[in-house]
Amino acid sequence: MPAVPGRVDLEQPVWVSVEKGDVAALDEALFKSAPLAQNQRVAIYKFAPSELGRLADGMHRAMRRAPGFFAYDTLEAALEDLKTPPEPQARAYSLDQGVRVRELLPLVKEESIVSAITSLSSYRNRYYRGATGVDASKWLQQLWGSYAEGRPDISVEAFKHAAFQQESVILTMRGAAEPEKVIVIGGHLDSIAGSGDNPAPGADDNASGVAVTNEIIKVLIAGGYRPAKTIKFMAFAAEEAGLRGSGDVSAAFQKEGVKVEGMLNLDMTNYKGSEKDIYFVSDNTSADQNAFLGKLIDTYLGYTWGSFKCGYGCSDHASWSKKGYPASTPFESTYEQCNPYIHKAVDTLAQTGGRAEHSLKFARLGLAYAVELAK
Ligand code: BES
Ligand code: ZN
Repeated sequence: MPAVPGRVDLEQPVWVSVEKGDVAALDEALFKSAPLAQNQRVAIYKFAPSELGRLADGMHRAMRRAPGFFAYDTLEAALEDLKTPPEPQARAYSLDQGVRVRELLPLVKEESIVSAITSLSSYRNRYYRGATGVDASKWLQQLWGSYAEGRPDISVEAFKHAAFQQESVILTMRGAAEPEKVIVIGGHLDSIAGSGDNPAPGADDNASGVAVTNEIIKVLIAGGYRPAKTIKFMAFAAEEAGLRGSGDVSAAFQKEGVKVEGMLNLDMTNYKGSEKDIYFVSDNTSADQNAFLGKLIDTYLGYTWGSFKCGYGCSDHASWSKKGYPASTPFESTYEQCNPYIHKAVDTLAQTGGRAEHSLKFARLGLAYAVELAK
């Protein structure tokens, strides 16, 4: 039974799809009963929400052999994962907005990113089922709402989820020429440490991605930029609970036939753990769009970049890829050298000396991406 919006039963079960090869890497006790449905690749199980923490923990311990999981409100939604995902439509990428991009780049400010990370990480946690997780979403709705003042082409919406109270946040900058074509830029708003109400400042995972998203919006507005295509900036709820916020939003877009031409996922941007500046997640993402982002870096930014495989659907890009939309995640380090403090009370801004130098690069890349894609 789908949940009644507004009356959320916190112990309502979730249906989870897992790659079958991955089940073997996990604690057997988690999979004591037979799957409800399966094909050669994927199996569907029913879980109590309180068991998801153990599922995610097991995943992190297994690291490279790590399984991913997608959680859904209903069995019907989970069954969709038994289908082969659609191939993204091939599209042409071009770089010809150099004048505009170079004019906007200097407007990106580290202090402004620091300030957004500070605000978001000041909540005890941004847990998707907790009061402070709801508060953080409301705070962002207000902040983004203030950007819409005096801009009739900008609107802000709280995207409600049937199964939990934390809302995803969407700021739409309507395209002046081809508004039906949409570019999505964003990252997850929630944070987690274990499960429940534990302190989880999530400064890097993922206040840093939301702060970068916020900075891109601010710079586009400050620069008087008006896109030809529509840009939707998003902060997703409940990523840490199985990509549930982005799962719901992308499913709604797919159902309505929204033409998403590109999705840029920003998840963990402020911890420089590896030699190169930016690493692209190469699995469950679009190879063509990743190559385009590499070209944007070479042309406008001069940063060093590489790529790595998560080995599972490690963040919100996977929700969009699964719907056939081209998605990418530029990441702060390699997988092995990622921030060791995430999902703990110590994921604070102090770990990066109160600075956002690394995040700055992602805001500059996101800005170039927006201008070159929404033309
Ligand atoms: N930001 C992480 C993903 C991540 C961590 C990518 C380290 C690369 C290196 C994300 O918020 C997360 O924790 N994802 C979960 C999976 C999700 C389906 C619950 C994970 O990686 O366990
Ligand atoms: Zn994250």
